[in-house]
Amino acid sequence: MSAIIIDGKKIASEVKGELEGRIGKLREKNIFPYLVAILVGENPASVQYVNMKAKACTKIGIKSRVISFPEKLGEGELLELIEELNADKLVHGILVQLPLPNQIDQLKINLAVDVSKDVDGFHPENLGRLLLGKPNFIPATPLGILELLSRSGNSPVGKHTIVLGRGDLVGRPFSVLVSLKDKRANSTVTLCHSATRNLNHFTKQADILICAMGKARMITGDMIMPGAVIIDAGTSAVNDPSTEKGIRIVGDVDFDSVSEVAGFITPVPGGVGPMTIAMLLSNTVKAAEQINGICND
Ligand code: GUN
Repeated sequence: MSAIIIDGKKIASEVKGELEGRIGKLREKNIFPYLVAILVGENPASVQYVNMKAKACTKIGIKSRVISFPEKLGEGELLELIEELNADKLVHGILVQLPLPNQIDQLKINLAVDVSKDVDGFHPENLGRLLLGKPNFIPATPLGILELLSRSGNSPVGKHTIVLGRGDLVGRPFSVLVSLKDKRANSTVTLCHSATRNLNHFTKQADILICAMGKARMITGDMIMPGAVIIDAGTSAVNDPSTEKGIRIVGDVDFDSVSEVAGFITPVPGGVGPMTIAMLLSNTVKAAEQINGICND
């Protein structure tokens, strides 16, 4: 093991510590940041993520509420609830946990959330702003990865960043974010995906490798450049009879072999996950500030 472990929990704590000051200032003005999370169905991972998000809110003084619905919820009912939350002056952030069941059109839902309360950054206007280099709300996981890189001393500026996976939530938005002409980004970017031929040829050229394919332990030590920075955004459940639940969450990276070759590596759990939550809190505080005419950027 030669790689330095990037401690996502510690960096997320730093971010949350910085938010507490901003929350305190809002409270002095009688503004109480408030996030509402909507959960449809009982997907165990989604239930766990939403509960973790709500708990993290409470811990730093953000009010939160989880509204849960059964799997068979109609699209119309969800749209009605979003309309109510859009109109509620006390609500600053609205989050609809993904994935949604098949009868609900995700794009319609993303479009329905008021852009000023879109703390997930999934509204097409917020994604379009990102593409134009004028972002407001940036999706939490890509934003968290950028924060992890800069706060661990691994600035992507001028580096070759290779992103594995073109999913809507992580890979594609991160590839855009890290390519922006910005002092924290400015990277040369290659986006690899399921149709990429000879993946090894690319992964070996990465100064920074972002793994977001959702394929358990697919990236092995022989696929990377010595000294590379490896960010693992994968979360796959694998069987592990030694645990109480019989499963374990692993990343896209085979940690044991990759950590022998890499310069820096994020663990799973404890790497990207805590940063996703920290950046959701950050977006919620930002929404509360912006809605009340306070600019903090
Ligand atoms: N499902 C997986 N990641 C996310 C996320 O960042 N936000 C929401 N709303 N759902 C998700």
